[in-house]
Amino acid sequence: MKYSFKKKIIAVTGAANGIGRAAAILLAKEGATIIAIDKEKKSLDKLKLKLKNKCILKNINCTNFNEIKTNLKDIKIIDGLVNCAGIVHQGDMMNCSEKEWNHTINTNLTSVFYISQYFMKIFLKRKKGSIVNISSVASSIKGVKRRFAYSTSKAGIIGLTKSIAVDYAKKGIRCNVICPGTVDTPTWRKRVLSSNNPSQARKDFNSRQIIGRVAKPEEISDLILFLLSDRSSFVTGSIYNIDGGMSL
Ligand SMILES: NC(=O)c1ccc[n+]([C@@H]2O[C@H](COP(=O)([O-])OP(=O)(O)OC[C@H]3O[C@@H](n4cnc5c(N)ncnc54)[C@H](O)[C@@H]3O)[C@@H](O)[C@H]2O)c1
Repeated sequence: MKYSFKKKIIAVTGAANGIGRAAAILLAKEGATIIAIDKEKKSLDKLKLKLKNKCILKNINCTNFNEIKTNLKDIKIIDGLVNCAGIVHQGDMMNCSEKEWNHTINTNLTSVFYISQYFMKIFLKRKKGSIVNISSVASSIKGVKRRFAYSTSKAGIIGLTKSIAVDYAKKGIRCNVICPGTVDTPTWRKRVLSSNNPSQARKDFNSRQIIGRVAKPEEISDLILFLLSDRSSFVTGSIYNIDGGMSL
């Protein structure tokens, strides 16, 4: 499928690593200029080395609205937004402190509100725009053990997506959400390595997907591209599981 991202400007949060990074690389390859937003400066710098002038770095903590306003004020045109920044808190409700709860909800959900609201002003002015949010199969889709705060925050993204979709459909703005299964990214690898038995943990993660393996980040980026592009012009408010059958 051919896409036309030439002259398109796409903001990607969590662009420095994992799924966000893979999406940024693919979008740049298809011609887009990327506004790469992340709190990790070192990894952002590595992305810049790869994408060169196809990439504008924004070293921002997405949970801080003042930081967003100050650092993004030079961005006047934008065609699409990928909300990918996120963290995984592990544990059931009885293992979740108030601090961990607030940190998870702020990082995974409130930041999506902040960034989407900030860029919505530009989308509304231009009467067009596409937002792709990254939720998870561990959310409203499926209950996953020991992901209490995480699943709650990711379920919130599904509600946020549908709200944006219905409120702004007539204004030319679309909003969709992707729910990945397990994806091989730096934080997932850390999670595996920090478990009591990494080799068993890897096997367990693989077997959660009926396909029998975890996804590569690039297997998520193709869908991100489609949803940002005009090829999906009739798609809004939709939830896409891309999970190797984990939700079945
Ligand atoms: N990897 C998986 O198995 C998986 C599965 C389902 C959903 N997801 C979701 O996909 C998204 C990306 O996950 P990943 O595995 O690629 O993670 P990752 O840790 O590899 O990348 C996440 C990026 O987000 C950035 N980030 C985190 N908090 C931030 C903040 N407050 N402000 C700015 N940047 C911030 C991190 O610095 C990092 O670069 C997350 O939202 C995650 O919940 C991942």
